[in-house]
Amino acid sequence: MTTDIEYKKMAVAREALSFIEDGMIIGVGSGSTVRYFIDFLGKMYREGKIRDIVGLPTSFETRRLLLKNGIKLASLWEYPEPDIAIDGADSILMDKNLIIKGLGGALLQEKLMDYAAKKLIIIVDESKMNKEVPVPIEVFPIALEYVILRLKKLGGNPKIREGTGKLWPVISDNGNFIIDLYMRMKELDKNTEVILNSIPGVFENGIFVRKMTILVGIDSKKAEKLEFN
Ligand code: 5RP
Repeated sequence: MTTDIEYKKMAVAREALSFIEDGMIIGVGSGSTVRYFIDFLGKMYREGKIRDIVGLPTSFETRRLLLKNGIKLASLWEYPEPDIAIDGADSILMDKNLIIKGLGGALLQEKLMDYAAKKLIIIVDESKMNKEVPVPIEVFPIALEYVILRLKKLGGNPKIREGTGKLWPVISDNGNFIIDLYMRMKELDKNTEVILNSIPGVFENGIFVRKMTILVGIDSKKAEKLEFN
């Protein structure tokens, strides 16, 4: 059964199509909302309603879905400045003008893509507004304990991400570990992104700060548009 939240995800995924034009190089994020976007984009492409697009994936899952939909693939090597990136998010912090991503574990490639693109469109359902989530951090495996120590000294509560179907830690698409940093939302700001990335052994963290358009799914038809600068 399709739930209310799935309809809201579909609404924003559909709305995101209005930003896509013929010939565009499109960075494609990861997650369940982006999955709808890829399906809708693939359908438009097969029907000839959009032409000559190239998709730059941010995870193995997205790569597979783009391929399945017949969309031509490339990477940031060929196109270091994509025309647009479409991505999901885990929390939209309205008063801080930032978003948190990476609960799906794809934050490193997503951050690269989302910062490289000329324009960034974030698609979320309304449950993501000001949602309490940890900050995901992708870490070089041998640096794990050192990074944990540094994060504790900063006053945070780091937890190594574990999954199912494999013993102990989740391994990212890039072969790294992921730490989820629990900290008080009110202590988090734009500087936190830089502070976390300055710890040796940290590849990236899930705090995204840049100019972006956020489409928020309110119901199955309506999407509210927010601008972050
Ligand atoms: C993955 C992400 C996703 O964009 C984020 O988790 C949103 O996913 P969903 O659309 O399934 O809620 O950052 O690393």
